[in-house]
Amino acid sequence: MNALKFYIQTFGCQMNENDSRLLHNLLLSSGYQAADDIEEADIIIVNTCCVRHTAENRALGFIGSLKHIKETKPETVIVVCGCMTQQNGEAEWLMKRARHVSVIIGTFAASRLPQYIAAYRANGKPVIDVAENYDNENLSNLPALAGGPDLHYGFKAQVNIIYGCNNFCSYCIVPYVRGRERSRSPQEIEEELRFLCSRGVKEVQLLGQNVNSYGKDLAEKTDFAALLRRLNGVDSLRRLRFMTSHPRDFGDDLIETIAGLDKVCHQFHLPVQSGSDRILRLMNRGYDSGYYLDLLAKIRRVFPDAVITSDLLLGFPGETEEDFQQTLDFIKEARFDAAYTFIYSRRSGTPAAEMPQQIEDGVKKERLQRLMDVQNPISLRLNQKAVGEKQEVLVEGRSKNNPAYLSGRNYGNKIIVFPAASDATVQAGDMAWVQVTGAQTWNLSGELCR
Ligand code: SAH
Ligand code: SF4
Ligand code: F3S
Repeated sequence: MNALKFYIQTFGCQMNENDSRLLHNLLLSSGYQAADDIEEADIIIVNTCCVRHTAENRALGFIGSLKHIKETKPETVIVVCGCMTQQNGEAEWLMKRARHVSVIIGTFAASRLPQYIAAYRANGKPVIDVAENYDNENLSNLPALAGGPDLHYGFKAQVNIIYGCNNFCSYCIVPYVRGRERSRSPQEIEEELRFLCSRGVKEVQLLGQNVNSYGKDLAEKTDFAALLRRLNGVDSLRRLRFMTSHPRDFGDDLIETIAGLDKVCHQFHLPVQSGSDRILRLMNRGYDSGYYLDLLAKIRRVFPDAVITSDLLLGFPGETEEDFQQTLDFIKEARFDAAYTFIYSRRSGTPAAEMPQQIEDGVKKERLQRLMDVQNPISLRLNQKAVGEKQEVLVEGRSKNNPAYLSGRNYGNKIIVFPAASDATVQAGDMAWVQVTGAQTWNLSGELCR
């Protein structure tokens, strides 16, 4: 009999993308095959996100669209996993509303996917496992090293170093759906990284909701700086980066450590969320704007080439025009290379959802526009400063818009596109030197150095 084929649709952040990669490997090592498209899949897996209402709606819309597949091919196994399913009461609600769903697994039980698929196929009974079970086998322990020798890992990869979050920012659902912080052991992380590098990976991004908490929960005494030192020693690795850093926990020792490591890129994603100290307090972020600006100054003193990006959250309950002005003033001073801007979305079960003075949609949207009008020219100006520089680029492949061009990422993780060499000497996976000749708000363009 031919092997059954699976298709994974992923919503949400890098964590979810990484989990999907691991689920993919897990299913391969369980004897399933990857489908080229959803039409030929016997098993459809929807990895969901619920950080904002829009993310949840997208996942729900997609799940709804699978109904006709189940009707025409009733043997199809439809699995919903990821953060959305882990919310209180959500799995039961979903099972009632979307009767075509076969298996619902929360974020703690993802490693049991093959066993639940088999159970459903054996008896056709829907399966739900959304227990908060900290004893379950960690997803990344299992399949990270799986896959036949021909499985292509690409040239850059992400490796999870810590699961969960202990911070409980007042607006955020993540600690509720991802549970408390759990660090993977340094040995296990190094093993996965070495494996990926042995398969051609050159750049690794370490992932965690707060990488700076790494190691606090482990019996052996270690921390994030020690992990970076250890991984920097992997010979075949060319670049190491990480996200996300919580500004409160980004200490001087970490800055000093990075300064001594040649592979760690001076690229930092440091979400600030707001420039108003009053709002930052209500958000439970644990720092104020003065602390954050001092941290930026320290980082830039040690790394004049630092690329710093941030997240901004607009329309938090009670955010006044004055608070918002403070955020605008703040971003002018902080001069981020890029800022990801989000409109506050009320997440049930979080403290902010119960706060008075929820802000109207129209006001939030208007503030978002005004924020981008200030940030975009800053991003553009910083990119323009790079024109004339020679930068080392990890080539990712042909540019989507123009196949005569190659696209890659520089040290700061910015996209740079440049004409492909006519003799095709530079290809995907190569490190190449590129002279920057042009700048846009979100990316750079250039020419290969000869
Ligand atoms: N752990 C990371 C990222 C968490 S989620 C951190 O602490 O920064 C990524 C971003 O989503 C956050 O930085 C925040 O800006 C945004 N976000 C989180 N909850 C949100 C909500 N309820 N509404 C809108 N945006 C939210
Ligand atoms: Fe959410 Fe805050 Fe944790 Fe980030 S640090 S995941 S924003 S609770
Ligand atoms: Fe979404 Fe879960 Fe990531 S809620 S942002 S997929 S941790």
